[in-house]
Amino acid sequence: MASQSIPVRVVTAETVAKNIRAYTLAREDGETLPAFGAGAHIDVLTDNGLTRQYSLCGDPTNTQEYKIAVQLEEQGRGGSSWIHANIHTASEIQINPPRNHFELDESADHYLLIAGGIGITPIMLMAQRLQALGKNFSFYYLARSHEHAAFAEQLRNTFGERLHCYFSDAVDERLNIAELFAQQSEVTEIYTCGSEHLLQAILDAAEPHPNLTVHFERFAAVEQDNSDNTSFEIELARSGKVLTVSPDQTILEVLRGEGFTVETMCEEGLCGSCEVDLLSGEADHRDSVLNEAEKAEQSVLMVCCSRAVSPRLKLDI
Ligand code: FES
Repeated sequence: MASQSIPVRVVTAETVAKNIRAYTLAREDGETLPAFGAGAHIDVLTDNGLTRQYSLCGDPTNTQEYKIAVQLEEQGRGGSSWIHANIHTASEIQINPPRNHFELDESADHYLLIAGGIGITPIMLMAQRLQALGKNFSFYYLARSHEHAAFAEQLRNTFGERLHCYFSDAVDERLNIAELFAQQSEVTEIYTCGSEHLLQAILDAAEPHPNLTVHFERFAAVEQDNSDNTSFEIELARSGKVLTVSPDQTILEVLRGEGFTVETMCEEGLCGSCEVDLLSGEADHRDSVLNEAEKAEQSVLMVCCSRAVSPRLKLDI
């Protein structure tokens, strides 16, 4: 089933950094918007048929408005350039309700937050939440330059000394991630969002430290090597039907071929909208939505990209 989209009006549209515009959205009928927590995103449905996910970065206690920030991706797939060119104050657009695959575990004692570029949007809400909870955290914001750093002034005012900004155009302002991680003596949860390069550096630097757990959100799908793909079967539990997924097909394609409607947004393992319950069998998870523990649980899978380790997967369809 597809989510019920929500018609919203753009209340404000403003440039908040070089190539980044922020949009405040409110329901056209004046009703309240669904609640959300730090790390949540919404889908923006563009008139040219694209669906793009953007983290919510406004105040979660304000149920009248959502705020998103969109970075223009010159080499992107067209979503951000369409939004920058076509969405203005008073524009009317459709969104899907918030979903959260990057939830903040509020039970820990120590946190490190690391945002790269536009990855600041989910991380800034996490910082606000941790501050409200009185948690022990440090907040690092890496950007190409001052002019590329969205919300930097607002964040400085809110977090003061807790916020450490690093700009790559300044010769002496590089964050030494390995050194930072080596200094952590406590069990620490690291939340990060940024480029694949930054994420990989963080994962590599954290690996020797068992007291550090990295939670992350990706902007782009991880490239997959499909050369070793093999066939496998899917069993549809509600009908008992068994279908074969060939090496060059996805489960999603096979389901669609049988006339099933599966909700999808990104179709590359990033958004989580195509999640299906896995009743038995072992999936080869290829998405960037589930964390390692969730993948090991083998209770759900993303049918747009995941395959099978076992010969058959039984799906709750
Ligand atoms: S459609 Fe986005 S994860 Fe499958």
